Amino acid sequence: MTQPNAATIEAAANIAFIKYWGALDLERAVPCNRTLSMTLKRCCSRCSVEFLAGEGKDEIWLIGPDGKWLQPDESFSGRIARHLERLRAWSHRRGRFRVATRNSFPASAGLASSASGFAALTIAATRALGLSPSRSELSMLARLSGSGSAARSVLGGYVEWPAAAPDANAREEEIFAQQVASEDHWDLRDVIAIVESGAKGVSSLEGHRRALTSPFFATRQARLEERFLLVRQAILDRDLATLGPLIEEEAIELHLIAMSSQPPIFYWRAGTLAVLEEVRRMRDEEGARAFATMDAGANVHVICTADDEERIARRLQGLDYVEAVIRDGVGPGPAVLPQGLL
Ligand code: PMV
Repeated sequence: MTQPNAATIEAAANIAFIKYWGALDLERAVPCNRTLSMTLKRCCSRCSVEFLAGEGKDEIWLIGPDGKWLQPDESFSGRIARHLERLRAWSHRRGRFRVATRNSFPASAGLASSASGFAALTIAATRALGLSPSRSELSMLARLSGSGSAARSVLGGYVEWPAAAPDANAREEEIFAQQVASEDHWDLRDVIAIVESGAKGVSSLEGHRRALTSPFFATRQARLEERFLLVRQAILDRDLATLGPLIEEEAIELHLIAMSSQPPIFYWRAGTLAVLEEVRRMRDEEGARAFATMDAGANVHVICTADDEERIARRLQGLDYVEAVIRDGVGPGPAVLPQGLL
């Protein structure tokens, strides 16, 4: 290849209803349990990749909110560089990548920026290489970034991952995500209350490692498959009254495992509790159909229908601890953007 090839992809974060917390194989991001998520549409990463002929170092740029091109810190660029190396090896191609990436939402705030980022990077890089892998292959490749949730962000709507029971000895191509239902199936909304926008203290990678030290980890695993099946069915039935309590229970359980790990991890902040209490109050006293979930961070995702979105967003915005509210909802999955580099 002598001509550079380029692609720009936008991929959205996802919010897990059944969560990945603890791995059978952490290096390959093989989770202990099946997980299920909703792909969002506004919390996005946009990633441009060029593949250039010739030897040399990959170039990695992070574009800030003001449009400035920044050199990312060592840990961020190291993770991307290792993933590019993997994609180069997988494609048996020689050459170097130039990558520029930007987020539409605060990175490292428990909003799964690694999921959207690595999904966008994987799809853009394979297209820049001139390849068009299947969704299952893209999911498998995105997972190898080390961010398991990236395996789900290559698809839109409601997504389960892995598609089959997790197995540490499974071949790579057997561990991929698949769609449970498309975004048209059910227009769920996600009102995200940002109570902390800075980087979180303990990475999810470290959280997965520590999860297995919790005395409650085995109990959680024993309960999870049943909850997974109920959640999947509630989505298929568009049944928020069943789905809601299950996803709240699941989110609290993830944090129970985190808080009882060795050493313990506390992601919650005072604002987290304030939002959880307000959601409960709106439900019990005002009949709102709203249910909370949190990933590995302090921010709270409030899952509701379109009818309740406006009043929930306004109420949460008025709470002292809430810095900002992002109004998101189920989305269609990654999109190819027409322009070259950002
Ligand atoms: O994708 P990772 O390795 O960053 O882990 C994701 C962890 C959670 O967001 C807490 C749960 C999930 O399944 O998305």
